[in-house]
Amino acid sequence: MATYTPRKWALHGLQGISDGTLEMHFGLYEGYVKNANLLNERLSEIRAAGKAAGSDPGYAELVRRLGFEYNGMRLHEYYFDNLSGGQSDIGTGRLYNALGEFYGGFEEWKKDFIAVGGMRGVGWVIAYCDTTNGSITNHWINDHENGNLAGFIPIVVMDLWEHAYIKDYKPAEKSKYIEAFFANLEWRVCESRLP
Ligand SMILES: [Fe+2]
Repeated sequence: MATYTPRKWALHGLQGISDGTLEMHFGLYEGYVKNANLLNERLSEIRAAGKAAGSDPGYAELVRRLGFEYNGMRLHEYYFDNLSGGQSDIGTGRLYNALGEFYGGFEEWKKDFIAVGGMRGVGWVIAYCDTTNGSITNHWINDHENGNLAGFIPIVVMDLWEHAYIKDYKPAEKSKYIEAFFANLEWRVCESRLP
């Protein structure tokens, strides 16, 4: 059975995202790791007891929640990995060109990413790469699990649950958090995700 171990990030002193927000956010992330492990344990027990049955609402709900807890864990890892305090520029190389290809330019891609970030609700904005044709497109993920695209690779990952910014900004100031996200984005990490 797979057991996941929470990861650690030496992130502090970011621009516009406080250390307090980061500490609280790391704690939330660890909750997803813990719950992904708990779900797997519980499901293993049910299977070992020969009681796995899709018609059992309890079993069905545990299976359904795997998508929520697992993606809650994994998307936070992508998110913290692509934050650094803005130590690397986008430059004008491979990632710059790849992001701009579908939208007719890097700035147009960024405008669209920000527009998706303006959507109501809690979730994620992800620039995903379609490995079948290499194109990168922006997507909204509801909660953690609804809207992820099978086989696509996350390139730029932004958390837009309120907990990502509510200690630093008012709810109506989400756009300031998005600006801060870009100021702290570690482009080298995003580029390394390209297939
Ligand atoms: Fe989060």
